[in-house]
Amino acid sequence: MANEFTHVLTHPMLQHHLTMMRKKETETRTFRDLLRHTGRMIAMEVLRDLSLTTETIETPLEPMESPVIAGPRPCLVSILRAGNGLLDGMLDMVPEARVAFVGMYRDHDTLLPVEYYFKAPDRLAERVTVVVDPMLATGGTAAAAVTRMKDAGAGDIRFACLLAAPEGVATLHAAHPELPIFTVAIDRQLNEKGYILPGLGDAGDRIYGTV
Ligand code: URA
Repeated sequence: MANEFTHVLTHPMLQHHLTMMRKKETETRTFRDLLRHTGRMIAMEVLRDLSLTTETIETPLEPMESPVIAGPRPCLVSILRAGNGLLDGMLDMVPEARVAFVGMYRDHDTLLPVEYYFKAPDRLAERVTVVVDPMLATGGTAAAAVTRMKDAGAGDIRFACLLAAPEGVATLHAAHPELPIFTVAIDRQLNEKGYILPGLGDAGDRIYGTV
């Protein structure tokens, strides 16, 4: 399933955190903390190629040209609601980032994603945009969210998740062949209800303690 646009993040700390999150006995608070830590590490990988420029600064000893991020700050896009769990850690790492929110639900009859909320920052064409959702399951919502960000003007878009299903990677890649996808693991398959197997259950429920 992996292709040149799909990056499986193999850092041992990420793999270890994911295992802790998968365990059914991991309780809400711990799950949320682990996801936040994971978001920090994922942000480092997803934004590894941010452009730099230099700024003239003065150290206590002498002036120097020193690297700083070029252009407007990245835009992180949370797909509600589970996206917020990953967003928090990414914002820890990139506190100046702008944040967009995309709320979508799946229509029972058409099975198509329907938007109920959208808010995004300006200058999207100049920003690196990272769409985040912990679970890339069927890929339908992720693909629609990326389309929505393109329609709003975003150009350089990446998708970041914790866990992906092969079906979701295929759907998202088919809809947006140029889109880099970052994930900590690609699991075996979806079940008949669209849950990832072996997975970790419903990410939103596990982050927020709902049932
Ligand atoms: N969303 C989740 O939260 N979990 C899954 O397994 C699939 C989609």
